Amino acid sequence: MKILVVGSGGREHTLVWKLYQSEKVKKIYAAPGNDGMQELAEIVDLAADNIQGLADWAAEHNIDLTVVGPEKPLVAGIVDEFEKRDLRIFGPSREAARLEGSKVFSKQILDEYDIPTAEYEVFTELDRALNYLQQVGNYPHVIKAEGLAAGKGVEIVQNFEQASEAVNKIMGKKAFGEAGDRIVVEDFLEGREVSVLALTDGEQVLPLVPSQDHKPVFDGDEGPNTGGMGAYSPPPFVNQKLEEKIHRTILRPTIEALQDRGIKYKGILYAGLILTESGPRVLEFNVRFGDPEAQVVIPRLKSDLVEAMELTIDERLEEAELEWSAQSAACVMLASGGYPLTYETGFEIKGLEDLEQYDDLLVFHSGTRKEGTKFVTDGGRVLGLTVLGSSLLFTIDKVYQYLEEIEFEDMHYRTDIGFQAVNYLEGSGDVE
Ligand code: GLY
Repeated sequence: MKILVVGSGGREHTLVWKLYQSEKVKKIYAAPGNDGMQELAEIVDLAADNIQGLADWAAEHNIDLTVVGPEKPLVAGIVDEFEKRDLRIFGPSREAARLEGSKVFSKQILDEYDIPTAEYEVFTELDRALNYLQQVGNYPHVIKAEGLAAGKGVEIVQNFEQASEAVNKIMGKKAFGEAGDRIVVEDFLEGREVSVLALTDGEQVLPLVPSQDHKPVFDGDEGPNTGGMGAYSPPPFVNQKLEEKIHRTILRPTIEALQDRGIKYKGILYAGLILTESGPRVLEFNVRFGDPEAQVVIPRLKSDLVEAMELTIDERLEEAELEWSAQSAACVMLASGGYPLTYETGFEIKGLEDLEQYDDLLVFHSGTRKEGTKFVTDGGRVLGLTVLGSSLLFTIDKVYQYLEEIEFEDMHYRTDIGFQAVNYLEGSGDVE
């Protein structure tokens, strides 16, 4: 098979790495990919949101399967375009992808079908939003831009002053463009966050192993949200009973709700959850693999991912059985100083060759490019280092040991990835 992976980050590098292991695969292409993938995939110079260009290219090159990494092309309808041309593609249709593309749509689905989530209000006018936020009290609240904002359109506000700043930024200054035409204001929920991803063919739902992301840029969950600064799997506080509850009360009802509306969802459904005292609740849905969650979930998968994706597309997911490694995985993202705000790129990354000696380490490139024989930084998130090991605490320690060997100017990473798991396992009872 010839496979085209769409996207250019660490998630896509992880997908390329995993798909390459399938006996079914002869060749992998990545569009636009990144230079770190070049050993495994041929780079195609087409942007991830160039839907017509990608479809033309896939048809011309007889691609057997296209796998879409990022949300933007999914929300813009890449799957519909490929299917129209009889090209095989893994991912949800444009209509199904509204679950991520529209915060209002996903809240309406949750609300209408009694799937647990936070109470919310929707505003299309700035003044009304401010009036509400002035009167509502009981801060903190969460303010979300309606559409895609690269993970940055969500703000937790502690008081009216912060709320008004956030609303003015999103709706007034349109910091995220049209995504600010409407906002959702939600109650803030307390609890640990987990990411639960599942394969679904629109009927069957097959959950993957759970993981936990760390969105804020600084230790202790301080600072602005990023795409994710690190992840680990499995979270020790998610037991099988809880996994079953998430399946029963969230994943399955969501797919059934979409079915009820005549929408067939095929691909990865990503539920961003919070584990409250009264049970798991949905914070958000995404319609693709998470990043960095993919960097810890996919390496734990022993089964053939191509086969699982094909069964999903063919609506035969009941035939799929996923085998998982009992090992834990921990990933720390190395980022450019200043990310997620402003940062410089083009700095040489030193020490990459030294990491090649470690068998339990995977290095996925997010934002790098090659200059001559050297890699330089080329994005906010630069590299993801993932260690697989027999215990979670061990893997976390190991990943921090290994990353000491990498160096680039202004390098930034969180030093506390997995802190909730560590606190839980060590029984400190600290606020997590
Ligand atoms: N890590 C969060 C996301 O992929 O949206």
